[in-house]
Amino acid sequence: MSDDSRPTPASARTAAVIPAAGRGVRLGPGAPKALRALSGTPMLIHAVRALAASRAVSLVVVVAPPDGAAEVKSLLDAHALPDRTDFLVVPGGDSRQESVRLGLDALPPEYDIVLVHDAARPLVPVDTVDAVIEAVREGAPAVVPALPLADTVKEVEPAAVPGDPEPVVATPERARLRAVQTPQGFDRATLVRAHETVEDDVTDDAGMVERLGLTVVAVPGHEEAFKVTRPLDLVLAEAVLARRRLNDGF
Ligand code: CTP
Ligand code: MG
Repeated sequence: MSDDSRPTPASARTAAVIPAAGRGVRLGPGAPKALRALSGTPMLIHAVRALAASRAVSLVVVVAPPDGAAEVKSLLDAHALPDRTDFLVVPGGDSRQESVRLGLDALPPEYDIVLVHDAARPLVPVDTVDAVIEAVREGAPAVVPALPLADTVKEVEPAAVPGDPEPVVATPERARLRAVQTPQGFDRATLVRAHETVEDDVTDDAGMVERLGLTVVAVPGHEEAFKVTRPLDLVLAEAVLARRRLNDGF
């Protein structure tokens, strides 16, 4: 591992921050995305259960829509969740970055490892969560679950008018590219410092740690950790849940 690695003691406690304050514009009109139902249960509850399923996670901080903290609290009360896990709810902000920072601000001091997990990835398997925690424990300051890409990716000069043809600028070698998921795992002090110092807009938390010049490592992600973004993703999520019910039945 790199110079920034330093194993975290086995006693290190792990908390998860779940940003759930987005509207879900790309999913179409309706309730905030995290509160929409999948197989009858709010997406957020699936996501909370997925993280709390890890025995290493002893606190889950949910970052609720700014005007929805009370509703999220009652949802958590109304659904069965593991007794060994503590839960906190805080209101979110205008950007994902701001919501994550508000979640970090609410963390009690005794947590040394922090996972940040999109409420919009409700079906992440617990093995993926545990693999991320393990890599942080082994000394990585930041860890992302990642998958190879199926599609070839092109860099373009974005058109001023959406839908206009866009000149292709480059084709990065696909074998070197990864699509990254969540939960992303961090040494807490590193993530806090990243949020205090990096002001650029980023689309993930590990990107902020990269800006600090630290090494981020990727571990294998999982296809069921996909992000529910557009309407077709709801169809896929329902299909995954139906397959799990079938498998559980046998
Ligand atoms: N998020 C958040 N606060 C925001 C914006 C996003 O906590 N101000 C959260 C979302 O709730 C989601 C995660 O960040 O769990 C990933 O964001 P994304 O999938 O983009 O969700 P939305 O921003 O809700 O969707 P859209 O971009 O389509 O509006
Ligand atoms: Mg968004």
